[in-house]
Amino acid sequence: MTGGGDCPGLNAVIRAVAKDALNCGVEVVGIEDGYLGLIENRVRPLTDTDLSGILTMGGTILGSNNKSNPEKHAVGKNADGSLIYKNVMDDCFVTLQQHRIQALVVIGGDGTMTGAAKFAKRGLPVVGVPKTIDNDIMGTEITFGFQTAVTTATLALDQVRTTADSHHRAMVVEVMGRNAGWIALHAGVASGSDVILIPEVPFSLESVYEKVRQRRSMGKRSSLLCVSEGAKMVGGKQIVARVVETSPDPIRLGGIGKYLSDHIEDATGVESRYVVLGHTQRGGTPVAADRVLSTLLGHHAMTLLREGKAGRMVAVQKGVLTDVDLEEPAGKQRVVPAETDELVGAARTVGASFGDL
Ligand code: F6P
Repeated sequence: MTGGGDCPGLNAVIRAVAKDALNCGVEVVGIEDGYLGLIENRVRPLTDTDLSGILTMGGTILGSNNKSNPEKHAVGKNADGSLIYKNVMDDCFVTLQQHRIQALVVIGGDGTMTGAAKFAKRGLPVVGVPKTIDNDIMGTEITFGFQTAVTTATLALDQVRTTADSHHRAMVVEVMGRNAGWIALHAGVASGSDVILIPEVPFSLESVYEKVRQRRSMGKRSSLLCVSEGAKMVGGKQIVARVVETSPDPIRLGGIGKYLSDHIEDATGVESRYVVLGHTQRGGTPVAADRVLSTLLGHHAMTLLREGKAGRMVAVQKGVLTDVDLEEPAGKQRVVPAETDELVGAARTVGASFGDL
């Protein structure tokens, strides 16, 4: 099952898990659209043919969903428009029994892992595989999908730099990441961005203006700003683009790119534009590193199940494959330790501003 927002490498994990199981003579079924498939009994067999050619494919052949929670499933609306929720865990167990599912591999983010832990508590052998472009899952130092998102963002920043140079502009590129600045930090460094704004380092507008003015006065042709969607000003709040009521994590961030671009132009007189990369970072074929990581994580998930270890999430710690309690990521986010992170230090050394000095 793949749950939560999609990311590049999901199919590579499905392939690694299912091929391993099929090779052991285990029957494999795929659950469609995350927990929704369990709730609505949408389960289909996965054969070798289904797994052919999917290693390099973006998205997920099973579909995903970032709004379903079996303990709080929206089943209708009250007269005042508010949603009516029901706990449908029992329905999920009926689906599991009907398809004779003896073990479940759940590929997802913190919300999906939290849900998976509930199934494990009721006795189902479950192993989780952490995914997200945001790289913010507690218990693992890397998630698959992240390196592809960073590559996509870096290529976009590189492209934006050339047009920024031609027009002597400031260009703001807004990247994803929720409350963690990993994508902005890595893509910002990889593209040589002049300003990198991440949620973990609140910025001041004056500091950002100063950097843009300074570059102009030094005769630099442009200023490139890589900004995390979750970046916020000192004492300020993140900009919320929308609230998805039925989602376990209802806040969708977005809008800081336009805000900054407008303010930079007004305050400095330097013509500014912005680009929101949005879901381009979630799509497309996974880079080689993510294909490798996905294959390793999927394989490790099957190894755990074979060893009878359940209620675990596969993880990478200090470069080594390991596993942690499925509940480890629940309600937490692994953010950039800005004070100690070496990449933050290196970025500062090569002249990037984090808008804080
Ligand atoms: O968690 C992955 C992510 O892409 C975040 O970076 C982003 O904030 C969010 O999902 C967007 O969610 P949606 O697909 O619901 O717009």
